Amino acid sequence: MPAMGASLRAAALLAFVVLSVLVSLLIGSLQQFGARITRFSNATVAGDDEQFASLRRALIYQLNERRKEIIPLLLPPPGQTLPSPQHSQTRTFNLDSTLWDEIAGGLREARLDEMGCDSLLDVQTLQILGSGYTKLVVKVNLAGGQPAALKLVNEQGIDMEKCLEDFKDPQGCRELVAYKLKKEMVLLQRLQHPNVIKLKGHCVGGQGVWGARGGDGGRVTVILEQGSPLQMIQLLQSPWEDRFRVCLDLVRLLHFLSRSPLGSVALLDFQPRQFVTVSGELKLTDLDDASPQEPECRADADCTLQFPHRNFTLPCSAAGVCEGLNERRNIYNAYRYFFTYLLPHQAPPGLTHLVDHIMNSTGELSADINQTLEAFEDILHLYKSGLHLDSLPPSALRDYSVMRGMGTSGNVEYRCWPSYSQQGCVLSVHSAQEAASICSSHSHCTSFSLSGHKTWTGRLLASFRSSFSHMEPDATSEVYVRKSKAAQPPPV
Ligand SMILES: Nc1ncnc2c1ncn2[C@@H]1O[C@H](COP(=O)(O)OP(=O)(O)O)[C@@H](O)[C@H]1O
Ligand SMILES: *[C@@H]1O[C@H](CO)[C@@H](O)[C@H](O)[C@H]1NC(C)=O
Ligand SMILES: *[C@@H]1O[C@H](CO)[C@@H](O)[C@H](O)[C@H]1NC(C)=O
Ligand SMILES: *[C@@H]1O[C@H](CO)[C@@H](O)[C@H](O)[C@H]1NC(C)=O
Ligand SMILES: *[C@@H]1O[C@H](CO)[C@@H](O)[C@H](O)[C@H]1NC(C)=O
Ligand SMILES: [Mg+2]
Repeated sequence: MPAMGASLRAAALLAFVVLSVLVSLLIGSLQQFGARITRFSNATVAGDDEQFASLRRALIYQLNERRKEIIPLLLPPPGQTLPSPQHSQTRTFNLDSTLWDEIAGGLREARLDEMGCDSLLDVQTLQILGSGYTKLVVKVNLAGGQPAALKLVNEQGIDMEKCLEDFKDPQGCRELVAYKLKKEMVLLQRLQHPNVIKLKGHCVGGQGVWGARGGDGGRVTVILEQGSPLQMIQLLQSPWEDRFRVCLDLVRLLHFLSRSPLGSVALLDFQPRQFVTVSGELKLTDLDDASPQEPECRADADCTLQFPHRNFTLPCSAAGVCEGLNERRNIYNAYRYFFTYLLPHQAPPGLTHLVDHIMNSTGELSADINQTLEAFEDILHLYKSGLHLDSLPPSALRDYSVMRGMGTSGNVEYRCWPSYSQQGCVLSVHSAQEAASICSSHSHCTSFSLSGHKTWTGRLLASFRSSFSHMEPDATSEVYVRKSKAAQPPPV
């Protein structure tokens, strides 16, 4: 029958088309596969068992290298034992290697001071906070509503992508990348400081949020204090006081790192995106590129720090170590990534000479971290005490009448920059006198008020305005009205 024959022919044709598409897809993927394999070994036959075995060996080698990198971080430096925060008995490296066994074996039991896998059973994921080459960070509320940040292997990150290209083993690669997370966790534990993000706990393998069952498999979740990613653009528009705070916090951190329990630690990947702020305080969050070893050397030339616009050479010590190189590297990075952008701009006039001095000594690496911290603390002291304002005319307040226990409403505000408020002009001042001299220098200003609000240094927040419609009782506020402007109409 012709009809039957035609439909058979059509079916055969269809089958042929489908088959050839499938075959071409298969060949394509085999070619791709072969190409990838030959890139990393001089194989001639794709898919050869020998090739898989050698890739596997290479991956295991890498895993062991990463593991070897972590072990020294668990041991105290020679001749030192670690004081334990909880127990009166001295903590020896045995306890730390137990920690390592827990991490490595994925068999960690919850410690008293830390959260374990249990705390991840009922988390509410809110949003992604950030991601980098290695890690993904999500914002969560733990059971009970406690805010936290969770760090995981970034499955879409560059590290994972490179590893998959090299080894084609998703499970093994996740494990390899997870070593960076484990290294970071150990560093967070050993380098506790107010300017390092707080480690709240971790979950390795187990039945974490991602439902892994048994084994580690690279399923590591680190539970951290939640911060806000550092927004450099936003910071550039903030008052000097806030920008100074970030720089001071950074210097305090570097001072700690130069004499840490692990020795002098260098931050090899030193960029603003490795930091977050928690209530305005700067905290380091990316530690997987921290190096606790000073480089070894034979000659001074081995102790060279290279930066795009400057090279520095330090002496090679008799012991064959570039002593102080890590500390200097950190200082110069602080100078080039933070101080140049944040520190000089709009510094209070009475402090500019001190700020200039810091800019020079850090940019030239002529001061060590002790001297740098001292210079920063000096500035803080002067700024807090108002001693830098000694040139203020004592008569500044004479042109103002003060009304205590009063606030204003129906305000007509003007803007100034950089203001603590978007709408109006809110600045920090040491005293009513400083506020008065600021008001007198603003042509729009006819009055200002001080409330109980203070900045992180303890300075007062003053809001300046061009007029207001009336006053009302407010126990927390005092209003200063400029006599010449408010009472007298301008001369005709
Ligand atoms: N505790 C945290 N709170 C808020 N955001 C964070 C926190 N930790 C990291 N982030 C954000 O996540 C990003 C990636 O984290 P990071 O540890 O730097 O990963 P990577 O090693 O891949 O660079 C950071 O650049 C930062 O913006
Ligand atoms: C594969 O290449 C390496 C160097 O690229 C070489 O040392 C090795 O002998 C080669 N192996 C084979 C089987 O050709
Ligand atoms: C720093 O050293 C490198 C290598 O020696 C050299 O190529 C570069 O020009 C130097 N840079 C500066 C700014 O001196
Ligand atoms: C430091 O001061 C010296 C002398 O005034 C100057 O030549 C040099 O450029 C300054 N360096 C920096 C980094 O500001
Ligand atoms: C830096 O200060 C510490 C004490 O805080 C001191 O032990 C150390 O020796 C000082 N380093 C230098 C180079 O002065
Ligand atoms: Mg990072």
